[in-house]
Amino acid sequence: MTARNPDVPTRRLLGIESSCDDTAAAVVSVGPVGARVLSSIVAGQTALHADFGGVVPEIAARAHVEKLDTVIRAALDTAEVTLRDLDGIAVTAGPGLIGGVLSGVMCAKGLAAATGLPLIGVNHLAGHALTPRLTDGLAYPYLMLLVSGGHCQFLIVAGPTDFTRLGGTIDDAPGEAFDKAARLLGLPQPGGPAIEQAAMTGDATRFRLPRPLLDRPGCDLSFSGLKTAILRARDTLVTAQGGLYRRDVADLAAGFQAAVTDVLAEKTRRALMTYLALSPDAPALAVAGGVAANCSIRSALQTVASNAGVQFTAPPLALCTDNAAMIAYAGAELLALGLTDDMTLAARPRWPLDNDAAPMLGSGRKGAKA
Ligand code: KG4
Ligand code: ZN
Repeated sequence: MTARNPDVPTRRLLGIESSCDDTAAAVVSVGPVGARVLSSIVAGQTALHADFGGVVPEIAARAHVEKLDTVIRAALDTAEVTLRDLDGIAVTAGPGLIGGVLSGVMCAKGLAAATGLPLIGVNHLAGHALTPRLTDGLAYPYLMLLVSGGHCQFLIVAGPTDFTRLGGTIDDAPGEAFDKAARLLGLPQPGGPAIEQAAMTGDATRFRLPRPLLDRPGCDLSFSGLKTAILRARDTLVTAQGGLYRRDVADLAAGFQAAVTDVLAEKTRRALMTYLALSPDAPALAVAGGVAANCSIRSALQTVASNAGVQFTAPPLALCTDNAAMIAYAGAELLALGLTDDMTLAARPRWPLDNDAAPMLGSGRKGAKA
């Protein structure tokens, strides 16, 4: 729930999300007593992509087109509202896989044209970055670690369109690394939850895995070397013993998760020091994105915040991974500022939050690590 604000009229928005492999719709109300998720429906596509070892853009786009109307109908029904009860249609307009983003944007345009409701194009990353305001009413500004399958960046979030990037990954995003490591270990996709599960019975100290870029100052991150280290360790075991035993998979998963956790914790500590040096009034640290669902990473970040005497916010697991409630909420903030779109709203494969920051190296599942 967001803080009470008597000046805010209550607005109900439909959110639509289709930028990767989840087709999602949600209804969120934002008003004087705060924000409420009235419904949040997510239809995943894991089974459709399972045979291919990753998300196939064409299959994803087709599945979004097929499922969007059912998912939107379910979101409206669960919230017990009709299109007439809404104040706006918010849709992810990027960054993401272009076919999927286009499906959502075209669907939202159709709904907006038919109903006359305002159309609001939302940056998917802004949706993640504003989630702590939806769930906990966190006040601006705050430091955000946005950590997902396609992105990893430290942002100072000062408003719905006001983001300053302090650093980010120079190659893979951590979620991408979790997914690749899972594939190398024969675990299912998405790799994050599979590695977390396998790691529960593993010994994180058995394999000496690197902590990339910790030797360099600043809060940029790198994860591709970690993936290569898992590949090498696996191949050494396969050569020596003919295959991987369950214990090997658990130990490698635990070692990998510990390495990612250590890197994220230390880089977050540094980003937080940089942020605190700017003397914010009520310093707060928040995390969002799919990888924020990882318990080991959440608790390490909580420790970093406590050690610095800073408030820490991590959304509930279902609002860490891709969902449309975050899109509806971000749309409500934009609508309140009069920042609506018209039928020229474009679907964007790339859409950096901080246009002034230098582009990062590398290109991930969802485009540049901007
Ligand atoms: O935010 P998200 O749903 O989609 C993107 O915008 O990328 O994040 C998906 C990513 C996947 O790479 C998935 O493996 C990772 O988040 N993930 C996790 C966990 N749950 C999801 N990574 C680590 N631990 C988890 N429990
Ligand atoms: Zn996401």
